[in-house]
Amino acid sequence: MTAKTIICGILLAACGASAAAAAEPIGAVIDKDFKVASAQYRILLDKAAGKPGFPRTVERGDVKMVGPGDWTAGFFPGSLWYLFEATGDATWKTAAMRYTALTAPAKFDKSQHDLGFMLGAGYGNGLRLVDDAATRSAYRDALLAGATTLITRFNPKVGSIQSWDLWPNTTWAFPVIIDNMMNLELLMWAAKAANEPRYREIAIAHADTALKNHFRPDGSSFHLVDYDPKTGAVRARVTVQGYADGSAWARGQAWGLYGYTMMYRETHRDEYLRQAHKIARFYTTHPRLPADKVPFWDFDDPAIPDAPRDASAAAIAASSLLELATFSDRETAARYRDFAEQTLRSLSSDAYLAKPGDNGGFLLKHATGHKPAKSEIDVPLNYADYYFLEALLRLKAARSGTGSFH
Ligand code: GLY
Repeated sequence: MTAKTIICGILLAACGASAAAAAEPIGAVIDKDFKVASAQYRILLDKAAGKPGFPRTVERGDVKMVGPGDWTAGFFPGSLWYLFEATGDATWKTAAMRYTALTAPAKFDKSQHDLGFMLGAGYGNGLRLVDDAATRSAYRDALLAGATTLITRFNPKVGSIQSWDLWPNTTWAFPVIIDNMMNLELLMWAAKAANEPRYREIAIAHADTALKNHFRPDGSSFHLVDYDPKTGAVRARVTVQGYADGSAWARGQAWGLYGYTMMYRETHRDEYLRQAHKIARFYTTHPRLPADKVPFWDFDDPAIPDAPRDASAAAIAASSLLELATFSDRETAARYRDFAEQTLRSLSSDAYLAKPGDNGGFLLKHATGHKPAKSEIDVPLNYADYYFLEALLRLKAARSGTGSFH
C-alpha cells in the first residue's frame, strides 16, 4: 500500500472530493463560471448605479469607482460585453453600451498611453458584437479617434510611444513600460479600418524597439525603459510596479506575452512569435511559480512563499497562452492549453472565485495592483475579471485566436 493510498484511505472524503473536482469537464467549469459571473456582475451593476464612473476594485469594504481618465475604465464595459457574448442576454448588451459610451472622453486624452485598454475593451468588443449600422459606425469613429490621439505620443527618434508623462520627482526623459505593448492592438485595427498604414508602422516600430531594449536573455522583461528623446539612446531600465529593477514583475511578463502574441497574429513576423514563446517558457517553467499556476505578484520577491499572488497576471497569461497555442506546433499547443486550463481551473476554485454576494460583486480575489505603492494588494481588480472572462471564452473556443477587434 502506498503512502498516498493510506492518506487517501484516512481522508477518503477529501481525496474523493478533489478527484471529482479535477475530473469535472472543463465545459461544466466554464458554464458554472459564467453563472457566477452573471450573478456577481448583476450585483456590481446595482452597486455602480447612481455613482459616477466605473467599478475598479474594493477599497475599505466599498466598491471603488474611477472616472473615464483611469487606465482601467474600459474593463467594466469590456466584461459586460463578454457576458453578453457568453450568454446572449440582452441585459448585458444594454449595460455594456451604456458604460462603453461613458469611456468616450478617452478618445481625446493625450496625457497617457493606455487608450488601447480604455477604448478597446468597450468599443472594440462592442464593434465585434453589435449589428446595427449606426452603433457600429459610432464605435468605429471612437476607436479611430483614440488611435489618432495615441500616435501623438510616438517619437520616431526613439521608435516608441511614450507611456507616461514626466511626473514630478522622476528623472525620466521618455518612459516606456512593457504594458504599452497592449495598446498596439488598437493601432493594428485602425490601420486596417482606415486603410492607413501609418498606425501599423508605428505599432511595429514600437514593438521592434521594445524587443531590442525591454528583454533579458532569459525572456523576462524590465518594467520601464527610459530613452533619450533626442537620440533614442536607452538612459535607464528600472521598475515602478515590480520588486526591483532586475526582477520579473508578474503582470509585466503577462503583458509582454499577450502583446507579442497579438503582434504576431497581426503581422506574422517570426521575431514576435519567437519572443512570445520565450516569454511563455520563462513564465510557465519558472521555479517559483506555485503549483496552482497563479503567480506571486513578482517572481523575485524574497518574501515568496509569503508574498501576495496576482490573479490578474494569471488570467492575462492564460488568455495569451490560449491564443499562442493557435500559432504553435501540436505538442507546444497542447502544453500551453493544458497550462491555461490548469490556471483557469485554479481561478475557478473557491480559493480565487468569489461566492455570489462576496468580493464586492467582482469575480476574482487575490489580485495585486501596485505593491511598491502599497496600493491594491490582494484585492479584486476589474482587469483580472476581464481577462478571466476573455480566457474562458477563448478556452471554450468561441473566439480562439481572435482579439478584441474585428
Ligand atoms: N498597466 C498598469 C498595470 O498593469 O498595473
